[in-house]
Amino acid sequence: MARILQLTLNGRARTDAVPDNVLLLDYLREQVGLTGTKTGCDGGECGACTVLVDDQPRLACLTLAATVEGQRVDTVESLMRDGRLSAVQRGFHEKLGSQCGYCTPGFIMASVGLLRRNPRPSESEIRDALGSNICRCTGYVKIIEAVVHAADLHAMGAAP
Ligand code: FES
Ligand code: FES
Repeated sequence: MARILQLTLNGRARTDAVPDNVLLLDYLREQVGLTGTKTGCDGGECGACTVLVDDQPRLACLTLAATVEGQRVDTVESLMRDGRLSAVQRGFHEKLGSQCGYCTPGFIMASVGLLRRNPRPSESEIRDALGSNICRCTGYVKIIEAVVHAADLHAMGAAP
């Protein structure tokens, strides 16, 4: 069975016909063509597929597209404005928070969700917020530094 899905995706209203059983991850990557959201474990273990649904981090590999009816979904593609990186993107870039980069969109979206809820998180709050995301390259120290830096940039006026 298919249904009509209406949502706000990266700030724009969309209406699409989607199969009842299609995952949000597959809807975003294959139907919409937004490939910034990554497929990692495909089983809820790695966080590579993290997107924001009404500002809350959500694993797109465990979410049916039909369940985000009427909600706001933001992916990593939503962050850059007028050619400028957002605070979290700059944080990861300037503090060398990514290496191979495969996990980075998931870390970035979890971090954006954190800064939208809590613009001045402590280091332990950052670690808690990123606890569902796995990186096999960086050792996490640079990632935490990246989010601390992003919070500073956000405090100076940059969108998260
Ligand atoms: S791909 Fe979704 S948690 Fe790993
Ligand atoms: S930068 Fe390679 S998995 Fe995180």
